[in-house]
Amino acid sequence: MNIAILGVGTVGEAVAKILLQNKKLIAARCGEEIVPVIGVVRNLNKKRDAAILLTDDIDSVIKRDDIDVFVELMGGVEEPFRVVSQILERKKAVVTANKALLAYHRYALQNLAQNTPFGFEASVAGGIPIIRALREGLSANHILSINGILNGTSNYILTSMMSKGSNFADALKKAQELGYAEADPTFDVGGFDAAHKLLILASIAYGVHGNPEDILIEGIEGITPEDIFFANDFEYVIKLLAIAKKTGEKVELRVHPALVPKDKMIAKTDGVTNAVSVVGDAVGETMFYGPGAGGPATASSVISDLIDIARDGKSPMLGYKAPFELNALELLDPSEIRTKYYFRLRVEDKVGVLAKITNLMSENNLSIDSLLQKPKDESPYATLFFTTHTSVEKDVRRTMEILQEQEFVKEKPFMMRIEE
Ligand code: HSE
Repeated sequence: MNIAILGVGTVGEAVAKILLQNKKLIAARCGEEIVPVIGVVRNLNKKRDAAILLTDDIDSVIKRDDIDVFVELMGGVEEPFRVVSQILERKKAVVTANKALLAYHRYALQNLAQNTPFGFEASVAGGIPIIRALREGLSANHILSINGILNGTSNYILTSMMSKGSNFADALKKAQELGYAEADPTFDVGGFDAAHKLLILASIAYGVHGNPEDILIEGIEGITPEDIFFANDFEYVIKLLAIAKKTGEKVELRVHPALVPKDKMIAKTDGVTNAVSVVGDAVGETMFYGPGAGGPATASSVISDLIDIARDGKSPMLGYKAPFELNALELLDPSEIRTKYYFRLRVEDKVGVLAKITNLMSENNLSIDSLLQKPKDESPYATLFFTTHTSVEKDVRRTMEILQEQEFVKEKPFMMRIEE
């Protein structure tokens, strides 16, 4: 399947790179290779690290018959609408990450597309597959609410201000350097980017037809160090929330900063991470969490749409159309597992017991990380607790067996793995 990438910036470069890096895996999953044939840029002189041939002639690229799917990553609204409309009129498939385009023209595009594939997984919450989750996985539900952190840049800024005391301008600059921010970052900090994404989710959930101008949008620009101080002191965090809530027979859509109690799950969403809570009448609350911006994470969603199109919308049951030797991995023998371990031992409380245990452990390659003896109670026995550095399961099991045979061990030793 041949693709053209219209707009080769942070995301476009990542799409071309990942298609190359994961070529064999992707071919096995969709039954054919996905080939990035040509990329379109505005300025051919700008230095970039693109694994794709480049041109600045968009009009000739969109007329090419040898391209099967056009990936629109240009940004903006009216120019991509013109371009994508022409592509759809030619019945060629489109994949886009452009939330502003969809916030204004999603229904016109749906009318134009009809049965032509149109993927937009990357338009909301970067690498989180929230479009598929809402459109397919939760399709049995009346959606009662959607509550999300949908802008990585604002969340990055707010997290830096709250946890490091950074100032707004420095945190924004860093987010821009990391490739999270929009070309015009007022879209991020002003709440508009989150509003575009909220409209897309709310269209799937409720069929709403509004434009960004129709909903309440407030950004994070007005937040001062005093607000941060108050929030910290009163056990809140400040988050830019995008909320869709069914209220009677209406739906309220709003984007604004809010104080959220620190112990809420959404409050623990830090940095560029996005989180979306969706409440359905049948399922209850579901929570989606992951990287909301950045080249590779967004490219992951773009490519998932490309794979879906290559599969003709019909995924094979276990995800592979062709055998993939590299992915057909053998199972690791459980005795070879490596992790950290915790032991609880009930032992006789007498001279030399601890020394014998630690000797036994070292003879069996177990290195102790921490050790505690519970203060003595009325029983004649003591309880010992150990944790180990990373060890191999077979050494741990052998040690447990040896320990159990010792006459000073009074109960079957207990072990748990520590997963950090
Ligand atoms: N600027 C956006 C963000 C990128 O910060 O979330 C992903 O849409």
